[in-house]
Amino acid sequence: MDVQVRLACAEDREAVLNFCQHTWENESDHIHLVWDEWLAEPQGRLFVAVVNDVPVGIARVFMVSDSEGWWEGLRVARAYRGQGIARILDSQIEQFLRESNIRISRCQVNSRDKVMLGMMTRRNRKIVAHYIPHKTTPISTVKSPSGSTFTQVNDRDFTCAWELVKSPDFYGENNCFYVSPGAKWQELKIELFKNLIERGLVWGIKQSDRLVALAIQSSLETDKEVFCLGYIRGTKESLPILLLELRHLAFQKKYSSIGGFFPTCELLLNYLEKGEFWKSYTGVFSLFQWDNFSG
Ligand SMILES: CC(C)(COP(=O)(O)OP(=O)(O)OC[C@H]1O[C@@H](n2cnc3c(N)ncnc32)[C@H](O)[C@@H]1OP(=O)(O)O)[C@@H](O)C(=O)NCCC(=O)NCCS
Repeated sequence: MDVQVRLACAEDREAVLNFCQHTWENESDHIHLVWDEWLAEPQGRLFVAVVNDVPVGIARVFMVSDSEGWWEGLRVARAYRGQGIARILDSQIEQFLRESNIRISRCQVNSRDKVMLGMMTRRNRKIVAHYIPHKTTPISTVKSPSGSTFTQVNDRDFTCAWELVKSPDFYGENNCFYVSPGAKWQELKIELFKNLIERGLVWGIKQSDRLVALAIQSSLETDKEVFCLGYIRGTKESLPILLLELRHLAFQKKYSSIGGFFPTCELLLNYLEKGEFWKSYTGVFSLFQWDNFSG
């Protein structure tokens, strides 16, 4: 079978969306919701595998920064599965990233997805963190304990906010990723953090004028009604307060729900449960990371 890989174009839409109707047995796919955006965004490359000029597979990579690529949307038409099409797309994307001098690759895989987990393991790609999506409803009122103030973090708070991000003291985990819009993980570097503060996307809790917890807003490509959290960190005492305040903020901003992917840290998961966030998807998502130039 002769398989060609090229960049996707508008004319591929119908064929791709047709086979994506059958991606999973009991679940619908979301490619139709993101197709136009995925084709248009200059930081992304949508690849299509074609056999006899007919699209039979897709995969996308999005450059979240000048050194990090995020892999997503790998799909192969049912009739063509098990014949090496994903393998070809995979190696073409790696080659593209190397040529573009993008060193770090990441993707997330559901713990139930044995085919992808096997594929990642055989390529020696490592799991660097686990995440569980959670969701809840906004609340109309909130009463935080006296001495705690909910605030939009601004330029003046930058130094202490960055200390909070970097400090190893908060729930004892290496939480160095921001889940950026469209559920794409990227390292929370200082320049990115500054930019997120400037854009008014960072919210926090202050106690005695000291920042003790913060969360960063993100968004989903598929559901603009969700107030999405891409990062959260704080002291034991302040995290539950922050979660409640964020639910209230989501209400004020007229979102229908609030949620995000949260790292599987016991303390945080405990607070999420107490804060009435529920697991919005079964299984745990493994975050894989690898170096495109090694191996
Ligand atoms: C996962 C998927 C993309 C694989 O595509 P494919 O073209 O059938 O895969 P390939 O034939 O290229 O095989 C890729 C690897 O997976 C292995 N594999 C493929 N199907 C498998 C199966 N049913 N069971 C176990 N391993 C399997 C192959 O042996 C191969 O391993 P290797 O390259 O390490 O030697 C395809 O099944 C699919 O579209 N599934 C639904 C969407 C999905 O799950 N996407 C990924 C998560 S977002």
